[in-house]
Amino acid sequence: MGAVGIIGTGAYLPEKVLTNADLEKMVDTNDKWIVSRTGIRERRIASEKQASSDLAVEAGKQALESAGITAEELDLIIVATVTPDMPFPATACLVQDRLGASKAATFDLSAACTGFLYGLATGSQFIQTGLYRHVLVIGVDCLSRITDYTDRNTCVLFGDGAGAAVLGPVAEGEGFLSFELGGDGSGGDLLKQSGGGSRHPASKESVEQRLHFISMNGREVFKFAVRVLGSSAEEALRKAGMTKEDVDFLIPHQANDRIIETAIHRLGLSRDKVVVNLDRYGNMSSASIPVALNEAYRSGRIKKGETLVLVGFGGGMTWGASVLKWTMDPVS
Ligand code: UT7
Repeated sequence: MGAVGIIGTGAYLPEKVLTNADLEKMVDTNDKWIVSRTGIRERRIASEKQASSDLAVEAGKQALESAGITAEELDLIIVATVTPDMPFPATACLVQDRLGASKAATFDLSAACTGFLYGLATGSQFIQTGLYRHVLVIGVDCLSRITDYTDRNTCVLFGDGAGAAVLGPVAEGEGFLSFELGGDGSGGDLLKQSGGGSRHPASKESVEQRLHFISMNGREVFKFAVRVLGSSAEEALRKAGMTKEDVDFLIPHQANDRIIETAIHRLGLSRDKVVVNLDRYGNMSSASIPVALNEAYRSGRIKKGETLVLVGFGGGMTWGASVLKWTMDPVS
């Protein structure tokens, strides 16, 4: 079984910025509450013309360029999203067509905010077994499309974006050193969009009952997140035969700064080892981790040979973590 790692990264953020001041005009909230309870100051919102595939294609192009491979060299495209352009065809198919990745197999993966980690774990297996050589994993969400902008409990949290990684073979002992994935369907009601599927297909009633929007039990999700962020990162480190002393950078899902702080505390890491961008983008679901990773790499913050822990949680409920040794040369 060969070693697999990230050999290219990319991201795309829509131009439109929604600030806390903007939200103050939409619901009964204020900048002080949002910053102190979440750490978020602004988020990006896709334009009316943009759907998830548009964001994903831009992130994918950048990741291919950074990997130095063409779209034709891709064997598989996995798009992790809960906001596909439409129920089917898969957004991965739309992305494949637009990228010109004619030889690539395609599928979407639904694991909410943990989707990118599930995508990395899935994609890397195909390379490890020798079936494929290059896999593009994209985490993309346009949560603004399913956010209820009359609900102050949720609308201040979410933003839109896409992040991507090309996976490929790397030298032995580098790349992904472990994965830890988990799910607990008994918590499915804590965070969901109940309308639009086979249980509650779109109807006048489903619209009136606001079933096409995200509904969330914030306090319970918070408690769950605090628990699993720490435990899954610890488990991934254990599987990699490492301890917290070996960690150079932690890249957590960007949902709430207080959740991140608690995880840092549990893991005994200092804040300068943690990549945080939620102040600028809010919670972008499956895009949060790859966008943070891309920024940390391109800014020169993470360097070749360093050990990273990616860790996330999300609706499902789901969680996941991975330990990896960074293999990419600095951006010239
Ligand atoms: O990717 C996973 C997605 N979701 C999450 O990660 C969410 C996890 N949960 C959280 O981040 C937090 O629970 C929230 C940020 C959603 C809420 O923070 P909290 O400290 O748990 O607040 P709370 O729900 O306990 O509400 C406290 C008060 C309530 O008022 P009362 O009942 O005490 O009078 C809320 O109505 O804050 C009120 N509140 C707000 N006030 C101003 C809730 N949202 C807002 C708001 N502006 N936007």
